[in-house]
Amino acid sequence: MKILITYSSMTGNTREIAECIHSTLPESILLPMKKVKNIKEWDFVFMGFWVNKGNPNKEAIKFLSANKHNKVALFATLGAIPGGEHTRSCIEGAKEILGESCHVVDFFVCQGKIDPMITKVFKIFPKGHYHHFTDEKRKLYEKSIAHPDEIDKEKARQWGMYVREQLELERKAN
Ligand SMILES: Cc1cc2nc3c(=O)[nH]c(=O)nc-3n(C[C@H](O)[C@H](O)[C@H](O)COP(=O)(O)O)c2cc1C
Repeated sequence: MKILITYSSMTGNTREIAECIHSTLPESILLPMKKVKNIKEWDFVFMGFWVNKGNPNKEAIKFLSANKHNKVALFATLGAIPGGEHTRSCIEGAKEILGESCHVVDFFVCQGKIDPMITKVFKIFPKGHYHHFTDEKRKLYEKSIAHPDEIDKEKARQWGMYVREQLELERKAN
């Protein structure tokens, strides 16, 4: 089975997760989204993005819209603690872009350190301003710094293998 793992990453978190998934799937090829030429070449595609203002980042939106495939798995990194409504809506947003004809077999999300440049920018906004660097934002930023950590990376490896097993079971059943 020809498996592509492709990703978009600005500061490296999503790339690290993509590399972990790749390390457990010896037959897979790892490519940044900008290097993918023909999506139809692949039997299955892992697509990874980072979350930008509640949505997949711009390069990923463009890629997901333009590269239609009928079977994919999604992975993402974000600054927030994964598992809540924010995570759900980011993944739903990505599924919507892929469209109904695409079967998303599974997804994986983990936290990724927020670029320190962002906090520098936020610090210029005064108290009361929407973008002010509140205590809540500071705590979230501090929690994100260590991620993706070894636990996140191991979960990503396990998840990659799990998806691969599901594909194999499906293949045998058909
Ligand atoms: C401009 C910008 C917007 C972001 N928006 C969000 C957001 O809406 N929600 C969130 O949880 N994290 C947000 N983040 C944090 C990133 O999603 C997170 O740090 C991610 O791991 C970056 O991935 P990368 O290293 O692959 O670029 C934002 C980061 C930046 C730079």
